[in-house]
Amino acid sequence: MRESSSAAASKLPDYLRDTYTWAYLDHRTVPWLDSPVVVSAILWGNASRLMNRAVAEFEPGQRVLQAAAVYGDFSQRLARRLGDSGQLTVLDVAPIQIANTRRKLAGWPHASAHVADLAEPVGEVFNAVCCFFLLHEVPSHARRLIVSNLLDAVEPGGRIVFVDYHQPRWWHPMRPVMAMVFRYLEPFANSLLADSIDRLVPECAAFEWHKETYFGGLYQKVVGVRRSA
Ligand SMILES: C[S@@+](CC[C@H](N)C(=O)[O-])C[C@H]1O[C@@H](n2cnc3c(N)ncnc32)[C@H](O)[C@@H]1O
Repeated sequence: MRESSSAAASKLPDYLRDTYTWAYLDHRTVPWLDSPVVVSAILWGNASRLMNRAVAEFEPGQRVLQAAAVYGDFSQRLARRLGDSGQLTVLDVAPIQIANTRRKLAGWPHASAHVADLAEPVGEVFNAVCCFFLLHEVPSHARRLIVSNLLDAVEPGGRIVFVDYHQPRWWHPMRPVMAMVFRYLEPFANSLLADSIDRLVPECAAFEWHKETYFGGLYQKVVGVRRSA
């Protein structure tokens, strides 16, 4: 599963290179986009609330996989929640993002970050998996592969937590703005909004699902618990 940064650098997915170089692969923009003010603004002031809702799904002492790097202090919050007896593993396909995550997790010896493409099998099983705002940034085919691989990485009785965009209600004042954002900056988001995460792939059938929406439906948290037997 894990490989050296130089080997992985040449294997960045086309969609990431073509669409999101400015957001995730450019040394000039990464520090700026990683700042708390920008993270909060991008989620219309909801970043802290959404991060707290995700992190609260995990228990101290668990071994948790964080699927892809997240800007701001999300990984530190998760590491703090899991505590010294827990273990946090962050996997991301972009070496620059792994370097940035390692820097942020330097004070957390029970947390580590590695280069890996989540469209390929994870190769390990965890107590739980967290996927925060990744799915809207990948095309449908890659999204299905990623969800399938993440579900396979959840142990029996374990849980998977997705937090991502959702179709806002018809009256939402930000709906026209978000339509423009999705059209020009997030071209794969509409295909996520048209789908139900809990039915994306056949492996979903092995889980019990629960969904909550926030901020007029613009955001969703979808939690699946793998049946034990
Ligand atoms: C988690 S998502 C978006 C998070 C959100 N916008 C934020 O940071 O607040 C962005 C990350 O997903 C990573 N990513 C995209 N496709 C991936 C894949 N197939 N495997 C692993 N990481 C991937 C990118 O490299 C990037 O670091």
